[in-house]
Amino acid sequence: MSILEGVCLGLAVSALLACGGAAGSDSKFARPMPVPPLLSATTGTGGATHYDLVAQSGTSEIMAGKPTETYGYNGAILGPTLRMRRGQAVEVTLTNQLPESEHDHTNLHWHGLKVGGEVDIVPNDHHGLHPGKSITAAFTPDQPAALLWYHPHPHGFTGMQVNLGMAGLILLEDAVSDALALPKTYGVDDVPLVVQDKRLNADGSIAYMETMGDRDFMMGNRILVNGVENPYLDLPAGLVRLRLLNGSSTRRYAFALEDGRTFHQIASDGGFLAAPVAMEQLHVGPAERAEIMVDFSKDRGRRLFLQSRSFEAAEEEAAAGQGRAFPVMQLRITQPGKAMAIPASLSPVPRIPENEATRVRQFGLEDTGDGVINGQTFDEMRVDLTVAAGATEIWEVTNFAKPIAHPFHIHGGQFQLLSRSAGDLPVNELGWKDTFLVNPGETVRVIIRFQGLKGRYLYHCHILEHEGMGMMGQFDVVP
Ligand code: C2O
Ligand code: CU
Ligand code: CU
Repeated sequence: MSILEGVCLGLAVSALLACGGAAGSDSKFARPMPVPPLLSATTGTGGATHYDLVAQSGTSEIMAGKPTETYGYNGAILGPTLRMRRGQAVEVTLTNQLPESEHDHTNLHWHGLKVGGEVDIVPNDHHGLHPGKSITAAFTPDQPAALLWYHPHPHGFTGMQVNLGMAGLILLEDAVSDALALPKTYGVDDVPLVVQDKRLNADGSIAYMETMGDRDFMMGNRILVNGVENPYLDLPAGLVRLRLLNGSSTRRYAFALEDGRTFHQIASDGGFLAAPVAMEQLHVGPAERAEIMVDFSKDRGRRLFLQSRSFEAAEEEAAAGQGRAFPVMQLRITQPGKAMAIPASLSPVPRIPENEATRVRQFGLEDTGDGVINGQTFDEMRVDLTVAAGATEIWEVTNFAKPIAHPFHIHGGQFQLLSRSAGDLPVNELGWKDTFLVNPGETVRVIIRFQGLKGRYLYHCHILEHEGMGMMGQFDVVP
């Protein structure tokens, strides 16, 4: 028996994934996909848009007919979508109503937003609030329209809390997104898809970090979209915009439509690409976002799967299930749609010139051992580096690990990729980014403008179990 068959049999209990290939059976996809609700705002201090988020526990139905105890914001799993506008002040109050446990302290991080260090994570003490406590973060987004997200960040517990369900989306809009002729009706032709894997026991309960191997690859046996397994989504027979977040810890996806049709990526982590990029398959690593447009105008009455195709992964990753094919969800083209052309251009992304950088820094992932960056694991008492506010720097991130790709994330907003040692940068990586995959043996160079930043920020591997075990560092931006 091959290793793969062994793994498939082992997982067969949970009826899984990949073993049947990328094709799904129609009858399995019988539940409508939930769309995270848009949170209504109230008016806060000085006219700010005020949102209230309550961290809580609840019971979810991830697998049809099976209850799962989960965590979420303002509900049992995931959180509502927060709309923000460039230049408009926002206030978010987090109240912790999690049940008491060893991991009941939580905080909030705005993944991809450029904000001051004092609100990048609130409270910014690596520990967070205990049940019964509240805190308010106030900031004014000043960056291009994008799909961003929020999630907890208490050191050592981020992975567990996100795995239990804590994460939500931020839709940042601006004058550019207003002016573009794109599908914009939330949940109708502009649909967010939070794609995650989770390991569930047969009774529906969550299994997390069970084996030593899970420290490296915490892979699930179920694929969820917006908190539900095997959903279908009714869509109009027109141009549709899907806003993808890979909210998984370790799993990467090679998104494709069942019939292999061409679609267009229009945005990456930090906003619009300069122009739509045509593709048949899109690789999205943990924490990365991608917006795609798919033309269903000739597909009224059709059903087709959004899949993840098989892709090559390092041997140990592949043994853990990375790179296998499976259906993600079913798309049902049932509604009338309007004809719409894909715009020829979107929003210019002026390249930051390399010679603007005054400093080059190196980051070695697992250079001297397991889970280290530059030979060290995270120490909240140690500031790993200091950056001058307003400076432009090049960060060179090298992955010394052979068996695994690490998704590297830097707090403090958006930057640009300059190069990948393994080959040319793909066009869809020429936009704004906050997280990027560093493949085994590869060096990725990025250029960052530390403008409008002040205070303490983090950089880390976004495989949250790696982050929790210390694959993280902190930097201060000082005037
Ligand atoms: Cu998505 Cu430090 O986080
Ligand atoms: Cu972040
Ligand atoms: Cu990692």
